Amino acid sequence: MAERETWATRVGFILAAIGSAVGLGNIWRFPFQTSANGGAAFLVVYLLAVLLIGIPVLLAEFVIGRRANTSAIGAFRKLGRPGWWFVGAVGVIAAFWTLSYYSVIGGWVIRYIGGSITGGALAAPESYFGAISVGLPSVGTHAIFMLITIGIVALGIEDGIELATKVMVPAVVVMLVGLAAFAATLPGASEGYAFFLNPNLDTIIANAGTVLPAAFGQAFFSLSVGFSVMITYASYLGKNDSLPVDGVTIGISNTIIGVLAGLVVLPLLFAQGVEPGSGGPGAVFVAIPTALAELPGGGLVGQAVGVVFFGVILIAALSSAISLLEVVVAYLVDNYGFSRLPTAAGIGAAIFLLGIPSAWETAWLDWFDGIGVTLLLPITVLFVVLFVGWVLGQDAIDELTDGSGIGSLAPIWLWGIRTFILAVVVIVVAINLWDLLATPDTGYYIVPGPLR
Ligand code: PHE
Repeated sequence: MAERETWATRVGFILAAIGSAVGLGNIWRFPFQTSANGGAAFLVVYLLAVLLIGIPVLLAEFVIGRRANTSAIGAFRKLGRPGWWFVGAVGVIAAFWTLSYYSVIGGWVIRYIGGSITGGALAAPESYFGAISVGLPSVGTHAIFMLITIGIVALGIEDGIELATKVMVPAVVVMLVGLAAFAATLPGASEGYAFFLNPNLDTIIANAGTVLPAAFGQAFFSLSVGFSVMITYASYLGKNDSLPVDGVTIGISNTIIGVLAGLVVLPLLFAQGVEPGSGGPGAVFVAIPTALAELPGGGLVGQAVGVVFFGVILIAALSSAISLLEVVVAYLVDNYGFSRLPTAAGIGAAIFLLGIPSAWETAWLDWFDGIGVTLLLPITVLFVVLFVGWVLGQDAIDELTDGSGIGSLAPIWLWGIRTFILAVVVIVVAINLWDLLATPDTGYYIVPGPLR
């Protein structure tokens, strides 16, 4: 068993899982996706996607993981369905793929800690972002972020992770609430709230073809489902843990943090006169330093808040990144008996190489993100849903019920997985495949933008 131990055993599952879920997806990805996809229309579909699909699918991954008690690919064999190993494999590939560009953004966060100390990031936010987000500077910080991630996974610094996550989650909330309060005082903020919080049904219907896949992709990404991560983490759970309580706790706290980030970034973008949707992946990195520079008390206050803010985001990013690397490493360690340190180093180096195009040019980052979130994720989720709904069936109900006392809710959950959740996921996958194959101008076209 010793080889199977990781921080998910010792740190406690909930902390590890929240650490995985809360990350750049909430603070970086959610605000710019919301801004690019119509604001409140996106928010509504996103919330529905989390509640009706995301959390039930999270529970499905918990069921697979805990029942199999082994990491993602082996899990299907352990459950007596070796033919389904590819589901875990696509998830592991998704994790590998995603970390390659996630680390690039993590690198930017490191850079912004430095830029807050020197004041450079606050003095001219737009040109600062332009300079550090591409080319060699970006490759350099990507390397640093990957090295830290590899170090943590290779050495398994559980105590550090436990403490960091315990501090990170409340710190993220406090920072976001404080910044949201400040943003509310700025002229123009009210337009941001109207855009973010005032949904218009006609807009949702008219744009369903783009809003739907974007919102579902964001929901899966943010909950860390479809990456085999939650399967792997849940494999360390005991029978006495309540899966529904854990799943709902993770789902709701994660969503609150995303929405809080929206309440900071969207009013800031409007107050700063940025057109909705034009911020792209740089939205947060430009909006926040611009606001920091305007904080009452002068430059030093803004710089100090900036160091703390980006420091906290770095912890959030690392606790997600280690879960992505951990899935790949756990798979190799569990299945081939490789030792942890060289495996983490070798896989980490390969991920670093795969991330170089994203570090070099943001168009590549967009493309990698698009393929991951619109292709790999929904496809893994589709297979997880099929597997739990139609292969595990009654066993899934038993597993979900163990330790939870939710009784009659479990059959309703399974019924949902089998019918309407399956149907929605099929629709999302179909729209995504259509977009990917047929419309070169969406940016997620199968031929990478930079090569077109
Ligand atoms: N959920 C993380 C975030 O929102 C990203 C992530 C996805 C981490 C999948 C692990 C697995 O930042």
